[in-house]
Amino acid sequence: MSDRNTLGLNIRNATSADELSIAVLGMQVFLDTYATEGIRDALAREVLEAFSPEKISSLIARPDTALLVAQARGHLLGFAQIAVRTDHPMIGDPDAAELQRLYVQERFTGHGIGWQLLERAQVQAASRGASRLWATVWTGNHRAMSFYPRQGYWHAGSPVYRLQDEVHENALFCKAL
Ligand SMILES: CC(C)(COP(=O)(O)OP(=O)(O)OC[C@H]1O[C@@H](n2cnc3c(N)ncnc32)[C@H](O)[C@@H]1OP(=O)(O)O)[C@@H](O)C(=O)NCCC(=O)NCCS
Repeated sequence: MSDRNTLGLNIRNATSADELSIAVLGMQVFLDTYATEGIRDALAREVLEAFSPEKISSLIARPDTALLVAQARGHLLGFAQIAVRTDHPMIGDPDAAELQRLYVQERFTGHGIGWQLLERAQVQAASRGASRLWATVWTGNHRAMSFYPRQGYWHAGSPVYRLQDEVHENALFCKAL
Protein backbone atom coordinates (compact mmCIF):
# COMPACT_ATOMS: atom_id res chain seq x y z
CA MET A 1 0.00 0.00 0.00
CA SER A 2 2.93 2.39 -0.58
CA ASP A 3 0.80 4.18 -3.21
CA ARG A 4 -1.23 5.63 -0.40
CA ASN A 5 1.76 7.77 0.65
CA THR A 6 3.08 8.57 -2.82
CA LEU A 7 -0.27 9.92 -3.99
CA GLY A 8 0.16 13.00 -1.76
CA LEU A 9 -3.54 12.95 -1.01
CA ASN A 10 -5.26 15.96 0.51
CA ILE A 11 -8.81 15.57 1.82
CA ARG A 12 -10.64 18.86 2.32
CA ASN A 13 -14.06 20.49 2.20
CA ALA A 14 -15.27 21.29 -1.31
CA THR A 15 -15.57 24.91 -2.39
CA SER A 16 -17.55 26.47 -5.23
CA ALA A 17 -14.36 26.29 -7.33
CA ASP A 18 -14.70 22.47 -7.30
CA GLU A 19 -18.22 22.26 -8.75
CA LEU A 20 -17.25 21.53 -12.36
CA SER A 21 -14.71 18.84 -11.46
CA ILE A 22 -17.03 17.19 -8.92
CA ALA A 23 -19.83 17.14 -11.51
CA VAL A 24 -17.68 15.43 -14.14
CA LEU A 25 -16.01 13.06 -11.66
CA GLY A 26 -19.48 12.16 -10.38
CA MET A 27 -20.68 11.36 -13.90
CA GLN A 28 -17.62 9.23 -14.60
CA VAL A 29 -17.84 7.20 -11.38
CA PHE A 30 -21.63 6.85 -11.63
CA LEU A 31 -21.38 5.46 -15.16
CA ASP A 32 -18.44 3.19 -14.29
CA THR A 33 -20.47 1.80 -11.38
CA TYR A 34 -24.03 1.61 -12.72
CA ALA A 35 -23.77 1.45 -16.51
CA THR A 36 -22.63 -2.15 -16.35
CA GLU A 37 -24.55 -3.19 -19.47
CA GLY A 38 -24.07 -0.03 -21.52
CA ILE A 39 -26.06 3.19 -21.57
CA ARG A 40 -29.88 3.37 -21.53
CA ASP A 41 -32.16 6.40 -21.31
CA ALA A 42 -32.90 6.02 -17.57
CA LEU A 43 -29.18 6.10 -16.78
CA ALA A 44 -28.46 8.91 -19.22
CA ARG A 45 -31.23 11.08 -17.75
CA GLU A 46 -30.18 10.29 -14.17
CA VAL A 47 -26.52 11.14 -14.72
CA LEU A 48 -27.22 14.41 -16.52
CA GLU A 49 -29.73 15.51 -13.87
CA ALA A 50 -27.80 14.40 -10.78
CA PHE A 51 -24.40 15.74 -11.80
CA SER A 52 -25.10 19.04 -13.48
CA PRO A 53 -22.69 21.73 -12.20
CA GLU A 54 -25.75 23.65 -10.94
CA LYS A 55 -26.85 20.64 -8.84
CA ILE A 56 -23.38 20.27 -7.36
CA SER A 57 -23.17 24.01 -6.73
CA SER A 58 -26.44 23.93 -4.78
CA LEU A 59 -25.22 20.91 -2.77
CA ILE A 60 -22.02 22.74 -1.79
CA ALA A 61 -24.12 25.69 -0.61
CA ARG A 62 -26.56 23.62 1.48
CA PRO A 63 -25.99 24.02 5.23
CA ASP A 64 -27.18 20.47 5.95
CA THR A 65 -24.77 18.91 3.44
CA ALA A 66 -21.02 18.38 3.55
CA LEU A 67 -18.94 17.61 0.49
CA LEU A 68 -15.38 16.38 0.97
CA VAL A 69 -12.95 16.04 -1.90
CA ALA A 70 -9.79 13.92 -2.18
CA GLN A 71 -7.22 15.78 -4.23
CA ALA A 72 -3.68 14.99 -5.40
CA ARG A 73 -1.39 16.93 -7.70
CA GLY A 74 -4.15 19.39 -8.58
CA HIS A 75 -6.68 16.71 -9.57
CA LEU A 76 -9.80 15.41 -7.82
CA LEU A 77 -9.67 11.64 -7.30
CA GLY A 78 -12.78 11.18 -5.22
CA PHE A 79 -15.43 12.82 -3.08
CA ALA A 80 -17.86 12.09 -0.27
CA GLN A 81 -21.27 13.68 0.24
CA ILE A 82 -22.97 13.64 3.65
CA ALA A 83 -26.39 14.97 4.61
CA VAL A 84 -26.98 15.48 8.34
CA ARG A 85 -30.32 14.97 10.12
CA THR A 86 -31.38 12.51 7.42
CA ASP A 87 -33.34 9.65 8.94
CA HIS A 88 -34.47 6.49 7.16
CA PRO A 89 -37.50 4.34 8.08
CA MET A 90 -35.16 1.39 8.61
CA ILE A 91 -33.03 3.46 11.05
CA GLY A 92 -35.54 5.55 13.03
CA ASP A 93 -33.12 8.15 14.41
CA PRO A 94 -33.55 11.85 13.55
CA ASP A 95 -29.89 12.47 14.38
CA ALA A 96 -28.68 9.99 11.75
CA ALA A 97 -26.65 11.29 8.81
CA GLU A 98 -26.62 9.80 5.32
CA LEU A 99 -23.49 9.18 3.30
CA GLN A 100 -25.16 9.99 0.01
CA ARG A 101 -22.12 9.42 -2.19
CA LEU A 102 -18.66 7.96 -1.78
CA TYR A 103 -17.02 8.08 -5.18
CA VAL A 104 -13.42 7.26 -6.11
CA GLN A 105 -12.25 7.46 -9.73
CA GLU A 106 -11.91 3.88 -10.99
CA ARG A 107 -8.17 4.02 -11.73
CA PHE A 108 -7.49 5.23 -8.15
CA THR A 109 -9.60 2.61 -6.38
CA GLY A 110 -7.82 0.16 -4.12
CA HIS A 111 -5.35 2.79 -2.84
CA GLY A 112 -7.12 3.50 0.45
CA ILE A 113 -8.82 6.70 -0.80
CA GLY A 114 -12.27 5.29 -0.10
CA TRP A 115 -11.63 4.46 3.54
CA GLN A 116 -9.83 7.77 4.15
CA LEU A 117 -12.77 9.71 2.70
CA LEU A 118 -15.13 7.56 4.76
CA GLU A 119 -13.20 8.21 7.96
CA ARG A 120 -13.26 11.97 7.32
CA ALA A 121 -16.97 11.78 6.48
CA GLN A 122 -17.60 10.05 9.81
CA VAL A 123 -15.64 12.76 11.67
CA GLN A 124 -17.56 15.52 9.83
CA ALA A 125 -20.91 13.88 10.53
CA ALA A 126 -20.08 13.38 14.23
CA SER A 127 -18.87 16.98 14.57
CA ARG A 128 -22.25 18.09 13.22
CA GLY A 129 -24.06 16.07 15.88
CA ALA A 130 -24.77 12.87 13.95
CA SER A 131 -25.28 9.75 16.06
CA ARG A 132 -24.74 7.35 13.17
CA LEU A 133 -23.93 7.29 9.49
CA TRP A 134 -25.81 5.20 6.96
CA ALA A 135 -25.50 4.49 3.25
CA THR A 136 -27.41 2.50 0.67
CA VAL A 137 -25.61 0.32 -1.86
CA TRP A 138 -26.97 -1.36 -5.01
CA THR A 139 -26.69 -5.08 -4.33
CA GLY A 140 -25.11 -5.52 -7.77
CA ASN A 141 -22.18 -3.34 -6.63
CA HIS A 142 -20.15 -6.18 -5.14
CA ARG A 143 -17.10 -4.08 -4.28
CA ALA A 144 -19.13 -1.59 -2.23
CA MET A 145 -21.18 -4.43 -0.69
CA SER A 146 -17.97 -5.83 0.82
CA PHE A 147 -16.35 -2.42 1.51
CA TYR A 148 -18.81 -1.16 4.16
CA PRO A 149 -18.78 -4.25 6.42
CA ARG A 150 -14.95 -4.04 6.43
CA GLN A 151 -15.30 -0.48 7.73
CA GLY A 152 -17.49 -1.57 10.65
CA TYR A 153 -20.93 -1.06 9.05
CA TRP A 154 -23.75 -3.52 9.61
CA HIS A 155 -26.49 -4.47 7.16
CA ALA A 156 -29.60 -2.78 8.58
CA GLY A 157 -32.13 -3.54 5.82
CA SER A 158 -32.88 -3.90 2.13
CA PRO A 159 -34.72 -0.86 0.73
CA VAL A 160 -35.44 -0.39 -2.95
CA TYR A 161 -33.93 2.37 -5.08
CA ARG A 162 -35.83 4.09 -7.87
CA LEU A 163 -33.79 5.11 -10.90
CA GLN A 164 -36.18 7.09 -13.09
CA ASP A 165 -38.92 4.43 -13.71
CA GLU A 166 -36.79 1.45 -12.66
CA VAL A 167 -36.72 -0.25 -9.23
CA HIS A 168 -33.48 -1.78 -7.89
CA GLU A 169 -32.64 -3.73 -4.74
CA ASN A 170 -30.34 -1.94 -2.32
CA ALA A 171 -28.68 -2.77 0.97
CA LEU A 172 -28.67 -0.26 3.81
CA PHE A 173 -25.46 -0.15 5.86
CA CYS A 174 -25.19 1.72 9.14
CA LYS A 175 -22.54 2.51 11.76
CA ALA A 176 -22.78 4.21 15.16
CA LEU A 177 -20.43 7.21 15.41
C1 LIG B 1 -16.38 1.46 -2.99
C2 LIG B 1 -15.22 2.47 -3.01
C3 LIG B 1 -15.69 3.79 -2.40
C4 LIG B 1 -14.08 1.89 -2.16
O1 LIG B 1 -12.99 2.79 -2.15
P1 LIG B 1 -11.51 2.34 -2.57
O2 LIG B 1 -10.68 3.55 -2.52
O3 LIG B 1 -11.56 1.59 -3.84
O4 LIG B 1 -11.05 1.23 -1.56
P2 LIG B 1 -10.29 1.20 -0.12
O5 LIG B 1 -10.33 2.50 0.58
O6 LIG B 1 -10.83 0.03 0.60
O7 LIG B 1 -8.84 0.90 -0.48
C5 LIG B 1 -8.35 -0.41 -0.50
C6 LIG B 1 -7.48 -0.74 0.69
O8 LIG B 1 -7.38 0.23 1.72
C7 LIG B 1 -7.05 -0.47 2.94
N1 LIG B 1 -7.97 -0.12 4.02
C8 LIG B 1 -9.31 -0.18 3.98
N2 LIG B 1 -9.81 0.22 5.16
C9 LIG B 1 -8.75 0.52 5.95
C10 LIG B 1 -8.66 0.99 7.28
N3 LIG B 1 -9.75 1.23 8.03
N4 LIG B 1 -7.43 1.22 7.77
C11 LIG B 1 -6.33 1.00 7.01
N5 LIG B 1 -6.40 0.54 5.74
C12 LIG B 1 -7.59 0.32 5.22
C13 LIG B 1 -7.14 -1.90 2.67
O9 LIG B 1 -5.91 -2.45 2.38
C14 LIG B 1 -8.03 -1.92 1.46
O10 LIG B 1 -7.95 -3.06 0.74
P3 LIG B 1 -8.95 -4.26 1.10
O11 LIG B 1 -10.22 -3.62 1.61
O12 LIG B 1 -9.13 -4.92 -0.20
O13 LIG B 1 -8.27 -5.05 2.13
C15 LIG B 1 -14.68 2.69 -4.44
O14 LIG B 1 -14.32 1.46 -4.98
C16 LIG B 1 -15.64 3.42 -5.37
O15 LIG B 1 -15.72 4.64 -5.38
N6 LIG B 1 -16.39 2.67 -6.19
C17 LIG B 1 -17.28 3.26 -7.18
C18 LIG B 1 -18.43 4.03 -6.56
C19 LIG B 1 -19.11 3.25 -5.48
O16 LIG B 1 -19.43 2.08 -5.66
N7 LIG B 1 -19.35 3.89 -4.33
C20 LIG B 1 -19.97 3.24 -3.20
C21 LIG B 1 -21.43 3.15 -3.34
S1 LIG B 1 -22.18 4.57 -2.63
